[in-house]
Amino acid sequence: MIKHFLSLASLSQIDLIGLIDRAQYFSHQLKQPHQINPILTNKIIVNAFYEPSTRTRCSFEIAAKRLGAEVINFVPENSSVKKGETVYDTLKTLESLGVEAIVLRHSDDHIVEELRPLLKVPLINAGAGKHEHPSQGLLDLLTLVQEFKTLKGLKIAVCGDIKHSRVAGSLMVAAKIFGMEIHLCGPESLVPTPQESHIIKSDFDTVLPVVDAVMMLRIQLERHENLDLNPTTYHHQFGMNHRRQLMMKKNAIILHPGPFNRGVEISDEMVEHPQSRIFKQMNNGVASRMAILEWALNRSSL
Ligand code: CP
Repeated sequence: MIKHFLSLASLSQIDLIGLIDRAQYFSHQLKQPHQINPILTNKIIVNAFYEPSTRTRCSFEIAAKRLGAEVINFVPENSSVKKGETVYDTLKTLESLGVEAIVLRHSDDHIVEELRPLLKVPLINAGAGKHEHPSQGLLDLLTLVQEFKTLKGLKIAVCGDIKHSRVAGSLMVAAKIFGMEIHLCGPESLVPTPQESHIIKSDFDTVLPVVDAVMMLRIQLERHENLDLNPTTYHHQFGMNHRRQLMMKKNAIILHPGPFNRGVEISDEMVEHPQSRIFKQMNNGVASRMAILEWALNRSSL
C-alpha cells in the first residue's frame, strides 16, 4: 500500500502518536547525526516546491540526507512548467524517471487529494494552499510534547491571519485528535467562525493569561488581493511583545511557524526570548520530517 502523507485529518491518533514518538527518537539521534542508521540509502526523493520555502524545503532535504536518501530539488521556474506542463504531468514525469517519493508544496488547497489516486509513489504534503501543512503540524506537536509531556488539555491561542493559514488548519485538526482547546484571535476579517466546540473565538489580551502556548501567525500578504494594513497599528492590536509576554503564564511558550515579520506580529525582542520556542520548532522540523519520510518510504517498501 502506498503511504501518502497528505493531512493530519487523514491520520489516526495511533499513527500520529507513532510519528511523534519517532520524531522524538530522531531528535535525540540528531545529536550524533553520523550514527544515524541510513534506512533510506539508494532512495531518491524529489522536492517539488511551487511556492517559496526556506524551513520546509531545507529540512525535508536534510531529513532525507540524514536517512541516507538522495534529493532532487525540482524548481518549477527553471522547468517545463514554463512551457505549460501541468503539475500532474510533471509529477508523473518525475515518477516515471524513478523518484521514490514526492514532497510537494503548492498554492492549491485540494491538489494533494486530487493527485493521491493518480500517483504510484508516496506524495508528501509540504503545504497545500490554506488547507493543511501537516509536517508543520507534526513539528508543532513535537515541540508541545517536549515542553508539556502531554497534549491533552493544553490551551493554545492562535493569533493572526487564521483564515489563510494552513498551519492553523493542521493545528486545529490535531487539537481535536488530542483534546486541546484552541483560541482564535486576530482581526475580525481574518478569523473564521469556529465550527467545532474545541475551537473558541477569543479576545487576545483576555486569553493570554490562561493559555499554555501562543502561536503567532504572519499576515499572508500573498493570499490577499486588497489589504490595508498598518504594521504599527497591527502590532499594537495583535502583536506579541514584552507587554503581552508579561501577561502570559511563566511556563507558557511562544510559537511561530516562520517566516516572521519582526515588528509586525512579533517584536524583535520576543523572537529569541526565553519563552520563545521558535527556533526549537525549526530544529524539530528535521526530526519530524525524518519520521514522516521513514513512515512513508521505509515501511511501505518492506
Ligand atoms: N513554516 C514554513 O512552512 O516555513 P517555510 O515557508 O519557510 O517553509
